[in-house]
Amino acid sequence: MKKERWATKTGLILALAGNAVGLGNFLRFPVQVAGNGGGAFMIPYFIALILVGIPLKWVELSIGRLGGKHGYHNCVGMFGLIGGNPRFKYIGVLGLFIPFTVCVYYTYIVSWTLGYSVFSFLGSYFGLESRECMGAFLKGYQGVESNQYFSSLAYSYTFFLICLGLVMYVLYKGVSRGIEKLAKVAVPLLILFGIILMIRVFLLGTPDPSHPERNITNGLGFIWNPDFSELSSASIWLAAAGQVFFTLSVGWGTMHNYASYIREKDDIALTGLASSSINEFTEVIIGGTIAIPAAVAFFGLIETQSIAKGGAFDLGFQSLPIIFQKIPLGEIFGGMWFLLLFFAGITSSVAMGQPVMSFLEGEMGLSRKKATAILGIALLLVAQPVILFLGNGFLDELDFWVGSFALVVFAFLETIMFGWIFGMNRGWKEIIKNAEIKVPRIFYYILKYITPLFLFAILVHWAITEVPSKLSMMGVDQGNIPYIIAARIMMAGIFLIFVLLVWRGDRERRVRKK
Ligand code: PHE
Repeated sequence: MKKERWATKTGLILALAGNAVGLGNFLRFPVQVAGNGGGAFMIPYFIALILVGIPLKWVELSIGRLGGKHGYHNCVGMFGLIGGNPRFKYIGVLGLFIPFTVCVYYTYIVSWTLGYSVFSFLGSYFGLESRECMGAFLKGYQGVESNQYFSSLAYSYTFFLICLGLVMYVLYKGVSRGIEKLAKVAVPLLILFGIILMIRVFLLGTPDPSHPERNITNGLGFIWNPDFSELSSASIWLAAAGQVFFTLSVGWGTMHNYASYIREKDDIALTGLASSSINEFTEVIIGGTIAIPAAVAFFGLIETQSIAKGGAFDLGFQSLPIIFQKIPLGEIFGGMWFLLLFFAGITSSVAMGQPVMSFLEGEMGLSRKKATAILGIALLLVAQPVILFLGNGFLDELDFWVGSFALVVFAFLETIMFGWIFGMNRGWKEIIKNAEIKVPRIFYYILKYITPLFLFAILVHWAITEVPSKLSMMGVDQGNIPYIIAARIMMAGIFLIFVLLVWRGDRERRVRKK
């Protein structure tokens, strides 16, 4: 088999940016900022970015490049390699389990954005001018309720199948002819759309003269004015660190995979920094300007607060569509907003599918065709309960344990592996090898001591404050309990299957050796 490689440097940076820039930048981030002290959130955010986010990015890219040199394209092989003992492969399983599981529900949400961009261009929801109506429209679309807008999941399923098909097609085409090509189109387009929308939001002024306080200046003020009193609460620090993991795609296993297609003689230090900068620009500048400030200009401060509390879906799929109905050419701006989300999301979905794809091909020895078929079917199967039980807390359960908690566990184990088992001296050499920038030496110490301590502190705090109440399902609707248990059984099952596959691969190799 010919070795897969990124074709060009620009393509590589765009692919890494496409991986990182996602729904997190435009939906998750604004809600986090608004709910956690506004501008004050940026202090723990940037601290987490520098002490954890960027250092981990370098760690993952260097593990990836090293792994690729030895023919490994996912964390299973890579962790065995840097740990110097095949047992460490089982930690690497997290690098398959996390992206696979999240890929399922992430792709489903991405499919809503495609659906809503079509609905926007067609003006399908125009006329539904209240949050209640748009809320019902969304619930109908998601199949949470059957109403006058949607009586079945037909639309949802159709858009989901289109998105899943697209993801599988790109993965089938491979690294340079699939992922890289997609990123070269999607990333510039989404940035363009983002800038257009951002300018449009700046020009909103005071949309309703009878409410002079509802204006764009107050909107920007709402999201950015710091409330420093919040800094003393641990929850804002956790939220900031969580957002950094999510947005930079560190602690998942996908960066390792993308980095494994970088040539050994190529840099990762500058590449990591450049792609992270694109991510931060789209997140902080574009993502921070569009949704929340626009909501304040149209709904006012009090209601925006309640929208932000309602979460990212309320903001993106319920409130913004109302605004699009109120501005000239709203069909086009609305279509553009959802297409922006779609482009951001689909490149991330692909990134989450690719580690398992490489596992099926590399470790399991399947052909590209077979690997595509198996992964596609697996994603489709696991998606069923996610789609059918959306209103029963199924997706939220997966998102807490896999999309938040497991990331920190994985990142913590990874820093220990890198800085202490592989060894920081060797690790540092990997990071600065062929680097096109001079990485400040202080990161050597940050990586060795501060990053793991920071992660450990988050874990301990979580283990004390959040995990027990989550585990015991405190405050959960009685009727949802069976679904939540089902979600847990499914997660455990997926994890176990990966462990068994790795174990079987190992055993076969041992038998062959004898
Ligand atoms: N970073 C993406 C986002 O912000 C999520 C993601 C994580 C994508 C891991 C790929 C891999 O939405």
